[in-house]
Amino acid sequence: MDRILIRGGNRLSGRLPISGAKNAALTLMPCALLTEEPVTLRNLPRLADVDSFGHLLNQLGCSTRIEGARPEDFGRVMTIRAGKLTATEAPYDIVRKMRASILVLGPLIGRAGEATVSLPGGCAIGNRPIDLHLKALEAIGAKLEMAAGYVKATAPGGRLSGGKYTFPIVSVGATENVVMAAVLAKGGSRIENAAREPEIVDLCNLLVQMGARISGIGTETLEIEGVDRLHGATYRVMPDRIEAGSYACAAAITGGSLELVGVKLSDMHATTDALIAAGVTLEERGDNLLVSASGPLQPLTLSTAPYPGFATDMQAQFMAMLCLAQGASVLTETIFENRYMHVPELARMGANIEVHGRTAVVRGVERLTGAPVMATDLRASMSLIIAGLVADGETQVSRVYHLDRGYERLEEKLSAVGADIERVGDG
Ligand code: UD1
Repeated sequence: MDRILIRGGNRLSGRLPISGAKNAALTLMPCALLTEEPVTLRNLPRLADVDSFGHLLNQLGCSTRIEGARPEDFGRVMTIRAGKLTATEAPYDIVRKMRASILVLGPLIGRAGEATVSLPGGCAIGNRPIDLHLKALEAIGAKLEMAAGYVKATAPGGRLSGGKYTFPIVSVGATENVVMAAVLAKGGSRIENAAREPEIVDLCNLLVQMGARISGIGTETLEIEGVDRLHGATYRVMPDRIEAGSYACAAAITGGSLELVGVKLSDMHATTDALIAAGVTLEERGDNLLVSASGPLQPLTLSTAPYPGFATDMQAQFMAMLCLAQGASVLTETIFENRYMHVPELARMGANIEVHGRTAVVRGVERLTGAPVMATDLRASMSLIIAGLVADGETQVSRVYHLDRGYERLEEKLSAVGADIERVGDG
């Protein structure tokens, strides 16, 4: 299995391109199931999760065509066509590897009137049930049956009725599923306490371009008027706000200066506010963001929250950065119950972090030292990369497949801005 080797200590400097957003891609791709016409997605990141999602769509009967695949290009263009669906099931083998596969549930039931998906089971960052996905779909007319680890959802008469649902807690994936199902319902739907993440706005914008009727986009109340059919569209995936934030933390911890190329700043205020509070200098240059840090970093108190709050997907990277701040930071994780698995790995590199339940106290240290460390999930892996960039000596990050799920050609992007980083195979 591949590992990433980093010899720390280099200041990052230069221009670093930001890719299309993984989490947007994974909800835009299943929209193609909603129409027999082609849906073309531009700026789709080259990631293992995007490939896996493409394979799942192929298994359901979609054709996928990729263009713009010159090796030097970041991003691709994919045209997905679901002329005729040949299956309506997301099997266990795929769902267990990629939880986002459950996002075919909504569009399949919307288009075909039925869908079967495997229950996802546990995952590295905690027990992540899909009860809210199911309750929301039931509220707009789906009938559910559970058997042998699968849930089968059907729309009586072949079409969902529409209805009203208020989420008890904010869920990104469940909001996406119910919206994708509701756009083809017979009647209207009203979704309250919906997630407001920019990726949901991206999803709604694509659906509207395909002919859906959605109002309240970007707010916590979405009103959807079902239509009889949707048509194809061409759509550009939004920039990855989490990738941008991750590289901003990398620039800051190395005392470097990076121009992040192609970001959407209005989607990442919580991250930029936290960077500024830590003493990082930010300068907006059109669609680019210049991130530079010279003096010592200041400690922060941060609590993760649904958008527009501080993203749980940024917690691990900020924790790595704050390991070198001048003082004690307090981070609280409110979204997932087991999202501190990077803490023992960072401790092996000399970090001083104490976890008390959902809160972590990070006391700044003078320096980190390189060590062999193990990635446990996608964002945790990135926190180890960030720490490795500044640590004395060599850091070896194993289980690199986590990073390949969500960071497009990470070592290439980082070495182009001065990092001493390489991927090595086991052989
Ligand atoms: C999405 C993102 C993930 C991000 C998360 C929170 C994708 C592919 N993944 O994950 O990167 O960290 O949003 O911003 O977009 N919950 C339930 N029942 C459900 C669904 C969720 O209890 O049916 C709970 C979860 O366990 C969690 C919370 O709700 O505690 C929020 O999870 P959710 O917003 O659904 O996360 P995902 O959509 O899985």
